[in-house]
Amino acid sequence: MSTVDKRYVARTPAPFGSESENQLSPPTPIPFNVESKDQPLASTSALSGQKSKDQPLAPVFPQPNQETANTTSLPHQRQSEVRAGSHSAFIARQGLGTRAVHGGNDVDAETRAIRRPITMANSYELPFDSTRLNWSAASGMVYTRNGGANQLWLEEKIAALEGAESCVVLASGVAAIAAVLLTFLRTGDHLVVSDNSYIATYRLAEELLPEKFGITSTLVDSRDLVAVRQALRPNTRLILIETPANPTLKISDIAGCARIAQGAGVLLAVDSTFASPYNQRPLELGADLSLQSLTKYINGHGDALGGAVSGSTDLIAKIKAEAMVNLGGAISPFNAWLIQRGSVTLALRMRQHNESGLRIAQWLKGRKEVSFVAYPGLSDSINHTVASQQMPGGFGGMLAFGLAANAERCNYFVSRLQLITNAVSLGHDESLIAYIGPNDERQHLYPPEFQAGFFRLSIGLEDAGDLLSDLTQALAASF
Ligand SMILES: Cc1ncc(COP(=O)(O)O)c(C=O)c1O
Repeated sequence: MSTVDKRYVARTPAPFGSESENQLSPPTPIPFNVESKDQPLASTSALSGQKSKDQPLAPVFPQPNQETANTTSLPHQRQSEVRAGSHSAFIARQGLGTRAVHGGNDVDAETRAIRRPITMANSYELPFDSTRLNWSAASGMVYTRNGGANQLWLEEKIAALEGAESCVVLASGVAAIAAVLLTFLRTGDHLVVSDNSYIATYRLAEELLPEKFGITSTLVDSRDLVAVRQALRPNTRLILIETPANPTLKISDIAGCARIAQGAGVLLAVDSTFASPYNQRPLELGADLSLQSLTKYINGHGDALGGAVSGSTDLIAKIKAEAMVNLGGAISPFNAWLIQRGSVTLALRMRQHNESGLRIAQWLKGRKEVSFVAYPGLSDSINHTVASQQMPGGFGGMLAFGLAANAERCNYFVSRLQLITNAVSLGHDESLIAYIGPNDERQHLYPPEFQAGFFRLSIGLEDAGDLLSDLTQALAASF
């Protein structure tokens, strides 16, 4: 006969409605917004109207202290009621790490959860008189493509991080770039754009805009301010620079480009994705618009796409009305929530990316197999002086390097890495590497040392020592 120790047998709860002596009837749902002073929540038994056999349990929430309550005239307001109205402005004045934690978050008005929820809704209740509504407006919540709860909360945070009056978040970084180009350019206009920039920027500027909309562009090495000025034409409306540039890590002088743009009466937009607002804030340097692929450092976890444009209220309102409402580049509420969550640790993560990025760039410089390293934090980099002036937080975790080897050996080297993943994208928690071969269609736009093929490496949050060991063993296996 087997004897079972009853202490270790899981007790199956009796179903609601059974007559067991200790069985509680189903708890009454707790109504939201019940004031605890009126209706203290004592215990499940209290909620169900039953008393424990022995004695009443202590209340879950303490009762108001009668003595204090009777002898003071101080207002009994919750913290969120005291903060109401001015909290986001207060958060926007804090340090960047604090803005990353608190920006766009607040006590949820309905449940009092201290995290705002995901609102997966396509539509919002209409007012009594909807005949007065502008169905294409990007203000007020009518339809999620016109603005939704998670979108607005994320915009509040990104604006706080960028030091901006306003922000629009969109479905991807490319949606943000396209939004700027399509909102501020029309047929016959001209665009000046960095010659090294993300591939979709290049395609938009060089192919889609001229072929479909009659908007011309000039690619320019935007490190060279004389070249930027000379590229301007009477019909130029926008200068779009990317710094640090993908994939070459070229650094363009944002303040210098802003002076040129202001002098010519054109807008300056800066794709600052490689830096994140922790390392660089273009609006503080005179740019009109700062662009971010939220997919990268701001989310940081490699699990959602998003993009943002930050700037003045007027400029952002135009982008919202045209690119979000009418071209439809709205972000999903779920992605907005994921990015809001990921971005909480931005400052902490960027400090690690900056530290490991510099350490690994310096290490690669000392390897005989390595033909070149591009990283703006290296003191002998031609980009270092300008980067030091405009990237006060650090130089990021992105670097490019070459190996003294042909494409086959370079691919073999990647296949031998055990920790660093062979994939595109950047700014994730895990390190990512991609090999761009000598036959890449844009090689002629890159500095000569890149043209034999190179690696783009996004340094993640792993221990730097482990990443160095991984690179060491893959180099040893390949040479
Ligand atoms: C500098 C830069 N801008 C924009 C983008 C596009 O972002 P997304 O992939 O979110 O559209 C990328 C993507 O790698 C990028 O590197």
